[in-house]
Amino acid sequence: MGHFDEQEFRTTIGHFATGVVIATGCLEGEPSGFTAQSFSSLSLDPPLVALCPAKASTSWPKLRESGHFCINILGEDQQSVCDIFAQTGIDKFTEIGWQPGETGSPVLAGVLAYIDCELALEHDAGDHIIAIGRVKDLAVLDANRGPLMFFRGGYGRLGKF
Ligand SMILES: Cc1cc2nc3c(=O)[nH]c(=O)nc-3n(C[C@H](O)[C@H](O)[C@H](O)COP(=O)(O)O)c2cc1C
Repeated sequence: MGHFDEQEFRTTIGHFATGVVIATGCLEGEPSGFTAQSFSSLSLDPPLVALCPAKASTSWPKLRESGHFCINILGEDQQSVCDIFAQTGIDKFTEIGWQPGETGSPVLAGVLAYIDCELALEHDAGDHIIAIGRVKDLAVLDANRGPLMFFRGGYGRLGKF
């Protein structure tokens, strides 16, 4: 650490507002996934996105082994989905419908959009991993609802939606 502690790091970084996604995958017929905010568009040509799984994530190794992951962008009414997928060691797929996307990774019911990827590259990054996905398929499923937002450690909606 520099001249700041972990709490100051979290608080300051928390002023960067993000949407919330669920990164999903399917290994040997078993779906898995986790809530994430560290998602970003990376490259248009070729089409790449980035996701940063924590090394402590128990779902990421399964997505990695499947060689694919799907980014599900949550709508403003999906905080309960966000909460379920932010837990660890439980079956997270009992309360929500899903269907396999092109790569086999789950596309969750009620999401605003999804981005289905092949895992292209992983970089080591402290207690996280930078995972780069090559986009295989994507679609907007609902252009009318606003996104679930995460800001200063809490959830909100965008006023103009
Ligand atoms: C709003 C929010 C954002 C999160 N962002 C990330 C993230 O970007 N990367 C990550 O690995 N975990 C993130 N988490 C934490 C995981 O969702 C959480 O550790 C989860 O239990 C991991 O589940 P797993 O053990 O099944 O992988 C976030 C949680 C919340 C509530």
